[in-house]
Amino acid sequence: MSLTSSDNKFYSWLDDRVGVSGFIKAAEKKEVPVHKQSMWYYMGGIAMVLLAIQGLTGILLMVYYVPEISSAHSSVLFINTQIEFGWFVRSLHSWAANILIFILFVHMFSAYFMKAYRKPREVTWFSGMALLGICFAFGFTGYLLPWDEIAFFATKIGLDIAGKTPFIGGVIADLLRGGAEIGQGTISRFFLIHVILLPIALFAVAGLHLLLVQLHGMSEPESFKKAKKKKYEKFFPDFLVKDFMVWLFFFNLVAGIVALFPWGLGPEADPFAPAPAGIKPEWYFLAMFQFLKLLPPHIGPFEGEILGIAFFGVLALVLFVAPFIDTGKSKAVSKFFDVYGILFTIGFVGFTVWGMLD
Ligand code: HEM
Repeated sequence: MSLTSSDNKFYSWLDDRVGVSGFIKAAEKKEVPVHKQSMWYYMGGIAMVLLAIQGLTGILLMVYYVPEISSAHSSVLFINTQIEFGWFVRSLHSWAANILIFILFVHMFSAYFMKAYRKPREVTWFSGMALLGICFAFGFTGYLLPWDEIAFFATKIGLDIAGKTPFIGGVIADLLRGGAEIGQGTISRFFLIHVILLPIALFAVAGLHLLLVQLHGMSEPESFKKAKKKKYEKFFPDFLVKDFMVWLFFFNLVAGIVALFPWGLGPEADPFAPAPAGIKPEWYFLAMFQFLKLLPPHIGPFEGEILGIAFFGVLALVLFVAPFIDTGKSKAVSKFFDVYGILFTIGFVGFTVWGMLD
């Protein structure tokens, strides 16, 4: 008797009440194209698993973390040293956050180069970009919470840079800082944003993203569309079983990294101490940070950093509007976006590595 047969009493009970057979039928109908670039279809699923790890470890961390400047650092130290497997949960949260952002870059660029943003997946693309923004915000707000030296000064630099964003930057930086200097106001705001506002936004936008992926199915690259013989595999169970294997690999990879390289905790932040040399933001903000460092204080009548931030904004905007311009009707436009993507990736990786070595 199969698990989903009508003779299975539990299955029939559940189906009458929740309609599971509808979901199973839809999953059985879904097919995934098989071609040389199929491996990129696993990236979104890996992001989902890493998000689940973040949710679970985040809830566990909240049990002991205290969002007050007098106790934040000691509460993280307590988690690290006194709680059974506390170091593991905290390291898992920090490492998985970084690996998630890396995977999101891979997911974004693979979708970009496969032209998956074209009709009818424009909103899938925009919701993906929003998810990337939300994950950046998770990273930025989470970084301050342990209230160690690097966190404090990196946040200071981050808020100073954000404050220079033309028009809206000043207001946003003041709102986030919650006072003239980084202090209790900042930690309260960052904590609230990190554990309430961003999770709500993430649930809503990720829900939309995943719904659209189901609605449109997987995109097919041009080479596949033109191929005479097209091969597909069933999503359920064939692709899903492979998905599980990839997830299992990632679980082991992350657990291995966490066990070998537990996440550190620096000395407690002292707002009155001078900034230590070589303070850098998280690696995913490094490309912009490194680029801004190169600029002179003034370029013509403008402040160098303001021009630099505006320039970065335009670079990102081109990625954002790609679905409107590269609609697939013009070969030249398509080529332009290919070249743009390659240059963007080289520039981003180059500046990030430079920032790490500098
Ligand atoms: C928390 C973040 C995200 C999650 C959990 C997520 C999840 C997924 C999943 C499960 C899929 C289907 C499988 C796949 O193609 O990998 C998918 C597809 C897609 N995602 Fe994401 N994604 C996220 C972020 C992003 C970002 C940052 C972008 C780009 C800006 C993006 C753009 C797309 C597009 C265009 C597709 C359709 C791909 C196709 O049909 O070939 N997603 N996403």
